[in-house]
Amino acid sequence: MLNFRRPLKGTDPMSQAAAVESNGERIGKPGDPCVMVIFGASGDLTRRKLIPALYNLGKHQLLSREFAVVGVARDAMSTEDFRKKVLQDLQQFTDAPVDADLREWLERRMYYLTGEFGDQRTFAQLKELLQKLDTDHATHGNYFYYLAIAPDFFGPVVEQLNAVGLMTEENHQWRRVIVEKPFGRDLDSARALNQQLLKVVKEQQVYRIDHYLGKETVQNIMAFRFANGIFEPIWNRRYIDHIQISVAETVGVEQRGGYYDQAGALRDMVPNHVMQLISLTAMEPPISFQADAVRDEQAKILHAIQPLSSEDVLSRTVRGQYGEGEAGGQHLAAYRSETGVPADSRCETYVAMKVQIDNWRWAGVPFYVRTGKRMPARNTHIVIQFRQAPFVLFRDTTVDALMPNQLVLHIQPEEGISLRFAAKTPGPVMRLGTVDMDFEYADYFGKQPSTGYERLLHDCMVGDATLFQRADMVEAGWSVVSPMLDVWKALPPRSFPNYAAGTWGPKEADALLGHDGRQWRNFEK
Ligand code: BG6
Repeated sequence: MLNFRRPLKGTDPMSQAAAVESNGERIGKPGDPCVMVIFGASGDLTRRKLIPALYNLGKHQLLSREFAVVGVARDAMSTEDFRKKVLQDLQQFTDAPVDADLREWLERRMYYLTGEFGDQRTFAQLKELLQKLDTDHATHGNYFYYLAIAPDFFGPVVEQLNAVGLMTEENHQWRRVIVEKPFGRDLDSARALNQQLLKVVKEQQVYRIDHYLGKETVQNIMAFRFANGIFEPIWNRRYIDHIQISVAETVGVEQRGGYYDQAGALRDMVPNHVMQLISLTAMEPPISFQADAVRDEQAKILHAIQPLSSEDVLSRTVRGQYGEGEAGGQHLAAYRSETGVPADSRCETYVAMKVQIDNWRWAGVPFYVRTGKRMPARNTHIVIQFRQAPFVLFRDTTVDALMPNQLVLHIQPEEGISLRFAAKTPGPVMRLGTVDMDFEYADYFGKQPSTGYERLLHDCMVGDATLFQRADMVEAGWSVVSPMLDVWKALPPRSFPNYAAGTWGPKEADALLGHDGRQWRNFEK
């Protein structure tokens, strides 16, 4: 069980040289001295995720003492107002009781600048403020910019930063930019955005964030595969029958109907989050855990995904949109009745697809992938289904009657790993049953307060890009879904809505596996 040493009252909360566990073991070094500049700081992400993540990092002694935050947005607000706004709900977004000293420490180093992102004056003022903070907080001229803004502004903001010298790295100072999704809306726009960014900054300065990589259990896919000797030898086509990746959400589109209706489930979830899950599950062991060694292997998998022909799109992909339904005795509105969604919308809220990876390890092993809104349970998991036992010794038991072994990586909300295997049912006669061996993170490690952004922000502060997407990976993800976008656009869906809210998606998604003699494993919890 990890117990982090809490800062003593009345002392400098950041006074330790390195983050430590209660047994004195180091868990990492604090981030470099720096300023984090948040563009779009008045939005929800800052209050709900970014500031609580900084607080949690501070609690684990992973922030430098020489640190400051600047919020930039067009809303007119004073620094005082900004501090109040983003800190007032801190307790709500961090699980453990808030430490008053640490909160105050953070508050003292937060600043706000009102400005338009298209206005040169904003960047001149920002430069002035950053120079002042370098003096006041000894931040060494190291800055990273978090772009929590509309994608249209990504390019222009980076260009303006560059124009006033705020992206220039010299005298051992670093300058980095974190870009939120959506990174483009198709392959062409993603390429254009990469080109626009890389015209003014180096690839090593760009941190394309995918918040799925901040999830502990997503990172654990690598630890599970490459820190254990027993799984890797069977992690291939000789032993694995197929893999299922499900990202199911119970929520609808909430207040984001306007954005979502332009995006749809495919763009919103697949080229980014789902591709991360596929590549981490399927990649070869990297030669090291250096950023490019890991990302090279991930990129190889994305490039090895078999391109879909138009016929494949028709036979191997399914799209759906939820109609009205119910869950837990509550009526749920149809997608077309959500705020900001046109009454005749043809936007998909569900996608399933069968992916093949053309390499020696995976040839012939299908990866079935699905993601959808308004499913019966919020559940992200990866099922590795092994091949059937070749033959069974027990009389009256056929091989077909046995459930194949399944290893399940539970990503969220339950975090754990389970293994399903056959066992003798107790009793005088030989009968076989199926049992699950479960491991839950919380049982071993307790619950660590986390927003999922801590690791990613800290990595950016120490210059580790392993968990961020490289330009080629983003483009490879879009290449996979490109044929689907094209065919789906050319053939608008005629049967929408085709699944009821609160159910596991359209029946065609069951048929996708059914045709191959397989079925989805659903977790209702
Ligand atoms: C976002 C999507 O990237 O991920 C949302 O835009 C989706 O539509 C969300 O709900 C899911 O994230 P999580 O962490 O809740 O699984």
